[in-house]
Amino acid sequence: MSENPVVPAPSFAVTGATGHLGRLAVDALLRRGIPAGNVFALVRDPEKAKDLADLGVGIREADYDRPDTLGPALEGIERLLLVSSPDPGDRVRQHTAVIDAANAADVGLVVYTSVLHADETELVLAPEHAATEDVLQGSGLPFAVARNGWYIENYTGRIEQFLADGEIVGAAGQGRISAATRADYAEAAVSLLTGDIADQQGYWELGGPAFTLTELAETITAVTGTTVVYRDLSVEELTDHLVAAGMDRATAEFVASLDGSAARGELETDSPALENLLGRAPTPLVDAVRAARL
Ligand SMILES: NC(=O)c1ccc[n+]([C@@H]2O[C@H](COP(=O)([O-])OP(=O)(O)OC[C@H]3O[C@@H](n4cnc5c(N)ncnc54)[C@H](OP(=O)(O)O)[C@@H]3O)[C@@H](O)[C@H]2O)c1
Repeated sequence: MSENPVVPAPSFAVTGATGHLGRLAVDALLRRGIPAGNVFALVRDPEKAKDLADLGVGIREADYDRPDTLGPALEGIERLLLVSSPDPGDRVRQHTAVIDAANAADVGLVVYTSVLHADETELVLAPEHAATEDVLQGSGLPFAVARNGWYIENYTGRIEQFLADGEIVGAAGQGRISAATRADYAEAAVSLLTGDIADQQGYWELGGPAFTLTELAETITAVTGTTVVYRDLSVEELTDHLVAAGMDRATAEFVASLDGSAARGELETDSPALENLLGRAPTPLVDAVRAARL
């Protein structure tokens, strides 16, 4: 009697699964029909993942700062989405701990969420991502790097404030920003995670249709009927403006420098990679603004 051998489905793990992007990636895996029993949410605090456990997703403790948690968390995992840590300054050490554990566990593919143009930009966030990419490349593990552009939610999350102020204050000039929704980046990461490893490896510059902050203000005005204008300052003026609004100077300098990068075009890409990975056009800005107002 000949029977087809049972081929077990690969097991997928997502770090930062209690965060915005990680959670969306878990949802995207399930939507693609990956059985919940083959999906593992790697979380710092399992208490925060009860809703995922209710879906049948495996919950494993994985703290980037506690390497002892990472080996057990990655046991039997074949494909890993490493969502970058939110802790600037500590990230290379944290990501290296995960990559080392992935290597020890013989993970077959690591997808890492980096930042647009990580290896050739002056963006202050880029050096830690570029260093992580180097660690990944040096690890010998098969990998794909999703170099994500800005989240549209960086702006839509502040719509109420923009409406109350009647203005967006920035230092991005007429720099174009290829932002996309977190849901689209999560979907793209899952395409890389679930696809043919031979086709997916390498570096993917991901971004949506580019807009300026003037166009963002115009879009918010059109959707809400409340006039919002864009007021452009220099990076130094924006820093002082943020300090006057109560931000500490170091954070203000950091935030304002991001707009400086936007002004230099460092947050723009004309790569079609996001659209290709999604198999559809990325969510347009106007739809994201509408959704944020629902
Ligand atoms: N492209 C952009 O515009 C943009 C904007 C912001 C951030 N980012 C980057 O993209 C990443 C994902 O974005 P997001 O919006 O999903 O961020 P988020 O909602 O802040 O989620 C971050 C996740 O990281 C987890 N985490 C924090 N420290 C950890 C540790 N020591 N060990 C394990 N997990 C830890 C958090 O766990 P807890 O739930 O326990 O806190 C959370 O699940 C960020 O971390 C950041 O690197 C990109």
